[in-house]
Amino acid sequence: MRKTLYYGMVGASLSSFIGVVHRIGISFDGRAKMVAGCFSTNAKKNQETADFYEVDQNRVYASYEEMAEKEGKREDKIDFVVISAPNNVHYKTAKAFLENGIHVLCEKPLCFEVEEGEELKKLAEEKGLFFCVNYSYSGNNMVKEARELIRAGKIGRIINVNAEYLQEYLVDDVGDTEDKMVKLSSWRKDPKVAGISNCVGDIGTHIENTVAYMTGLKLKRVAAKLDYFGQPLDLNANILVEFDNGAHGVYCSSQVCVGHMNGLVVRIFGTEGAIEWVQENPNILSVTLKGQPTQIYNRGMGYETARSQAVNRLPSGHPEGLYVAFANIYRDWIEALLKVVNGEPVDPAECDFPKIDAGIEGVRFVHACVESNAKDAAWVEV
Ligand SMILES: NC(=O)c1ccc[n+]([C@@H]2O[C@H](COP(=O)([O-])OP(=O)(O)OC[C@H]3O[C@@H](n4cnc5c(N)ncnc54)[C@H](O)[C@@H]3O)[C@@H](O)[C@H]2O)c1
Repeated sequence: MRKTLYYGMVGASLSSFIGVVHRIGISFDGRAKMVAGCFSTNAKKNQETADFYEVDQNRVYASYEEMAEKEGKREDKIDFVVISAPNNVHYKTAKAFLENGIHVLCEKPLCFEVEEGEELKKLAEEKGLFFCVNYSYSGNNMVKEARELIRAGKIGRIINVNAEYLQEYLVDDVGDTEDKMVKLSSWRKDPKVAGISNCVGDIGTHIENTVAYMTGLKLKRVAAKLDYFGQPLDLNANILVEFDNGAHGVYCSSQVCVGHMNGLVVRIFGTEGAIEWVQENPNILSVTLKGQPTQIYNRGMGYETARSQAVNRLPSGHPEGLYVAFANIYRDWIEALLKVVNGEPVDPAECDFPKIDAGIEGVRFVHACVESNAKDAAWVEV
């Protein structure tokens, strides 16, 4: 019986942002080893990363195509690939690995077009392969606690949602002309690499997914006003949303809000109470029941629901954050795949990682917001 999985990465060179977090998250439970990669299209960075992690030279690849094909043919091929490269790389890379019989965990946003996402879903199903889209915040203990409390009816029927993801790091781009866009070094602001949206695609999708994960509600339509401030892609978005239960909400997604670093805040309002989760203080959850003072739930305490208890890694009072959120997603992902490789049945209820449907919903959301903005913030079906 196998106790370890082997994985490879596309993207995630030593100097990348989130690829490193993936490796740390995977390492938490010691059940998967990185043995292959195409870490960068820059040969030097690719080699440096491979050398640092002592990846066998035969398994360092110059392109994702070469990696998918050669790994697919090996008897000891990788069990799964992590795609942590810019957005334009996701679809074609995911497709290549699925075609070669390898499970895929891909960063968000899943792809550029909804049809691409549906094609990947169909391919994964046909091949009997697992597909995760890394909406990392769903791995947070207190996000899971919010979901459990909402499921149990603690705050009643949901009647309003107010959520924001505010950052300030692009404020200097406001009003810059294209020839002065030195700060636009990041691929996130290049439509060929990022897709049709920067701000909504990059962080708005996290709002959309975190709310969907906590509440179980589906978005029906959106009315969005995006601000470009002279840039090719949006830097700021104010979005009115309508859910399938008839409730409405407001999502604010911005990279030009001075004073805000990584301010994902989700407030869910129900007929009996309200829940608030603040990403920058992720170990607590505020719960207010109608007519009562606000209660602060602390991670790691005995009163947490069983699901949250199950993902606690440290005693209460010891902060857990983004790394642990990744580790929690990877724990379920790796446990499920270990069952697969050992020929054991997998219980879907134990697979608490974001599936490809969540990724497709995110792409739908981005398209609906961009279309709505083009129609002067008219309502557009998601
Ligand atoms: N889930 C999250 O919380 C979260 C956070 C940040 C970024 N992301 C997503 O992760 C992805 C990567 O973002 P990042 O901030 O780490 O970007 P980054 O620019 O820091 O790193 C991208 C890496 O991909 C490599 N790369 C580029 N093209 C490649 C190709 N064709 N083949 C192989 N490697 C290639 C680059 O060399 C680099 O190592 C994006 O899709 C982004 O939206 C998700």
